[in-house]
Amino acid sequence: MTEHASKALSSDRPHVPKSPDNPPVVVFQDVTKHFAAPGGGVFTAIERVSFTVEDIPGRGEFISILGPSGCGKSTILRILAGLKPSFPATAGTVTVKGQPVLAPGPDRGMVFQSYSSYPCYTVLENVALGLRLKGMEREEREEIARHWIRRVRLAGSEHKYPHELSGGMQQRVAIARTLAVEPRIILMDEPFGALDRITRWEMQDLIVELWSNIHATVFLITHDIPEAVHLGDRIFIMSPSPGRLIEEIHIGPPTGPAAEVQRTADFTALANEISRKVEKAG
Ligand SMILES: Nc1ncnc2c1ncn2[C@@H]1O[C@H](COP(=O)(O)OP(=O)(O)OP(=O)(O)O)[C@@H](O)[C@H]1O
Ligand SMILES: [Mg+2]
Repeated sequence: MTEHASKALSSDRPHVPKSPDNPPVVVFQDVTKHFAAPGGGVFTAIERVSFTVEDIPGRGEFISILGPSGCGKSTILRILAGLKPSFPATAGTVTVKGQPVLAPGPDRGMVFQSYSSYPCYTVLENVALGLRLKGMEREEREEIARHWIRRVRLAGSEHKYPHELSGGMQQRVAIARTLAVEPRIILMDEPFGALDRITRWEMQDLIVELWSNIHATVFLITHDIPEAVHLGDRIFIMSPSPGRLIEEIHIGPPTGPAAEVQRTADFTALANEISRKVEKAG
């Protein structure tokens, strides 16, 4: 087995000089979301969530979000994506590159847990969809879509329909569709939840490869602690409902292929440490 540098808990953060010319990629400031409670009144889904993702030139940060079911992880991503009914927040401010979030936009791409391809479109049409919505001509959008289909290793499946693909292949279609429009921010809500461990490792390696090429900021919600630890530069740990961000842990970028790294003793020790923190939070 190849030796890889290990990740470790660290308080070191890349120094980013504050500059009005380079506002942070994302700022959440005291963001609270209430929903109407079934018996009347309000239910607080998330409470005073604050964090900043600085814009580091040439490098996007990878943030894993961990927390118990119902603590508001999807609510946070949907507020950032501008998706109702989570959006808009009840209180607090959310900015992307210094501008308040007012609606969904091509700068933020979302990959959902359930396979979200359109069943009546082929793989090629699904991947080209975002580009079509941007008004790109057919020839150009299909060329870009074919590029991304190759990148997610689905070449040869361009003219298949989603029901002809496995779960992992369908999820790769969703990833290609999101990345084809080159969003500055990629939001992934349990994207690999339905996949077996080996396919999951393959998808993790694919995401790392694509992410390191396009320098996007990625937010990944997962219930899989090894996945959060392997992929995350930074891990957010949330409290049970009402969800608050109770810990941010910096551990640095992935250090090698998922299947190798996640079998090392150092990795297991770190994942256990994070797991204990998540249990303590709950
Ligand atoms: N549209 C809505 N109306 C009322 N309550 C909602 C709505 N959407 C979410 N909630 C509630 O807000 C809380 C947070 O939901 P959210 O989906 O963000 O949790 P989550 O952390 O993503 O959970 P999971 O890990 O199970 O996906 C839950 O209690 C949920 O029932
Ligand atoms: Mg969720």
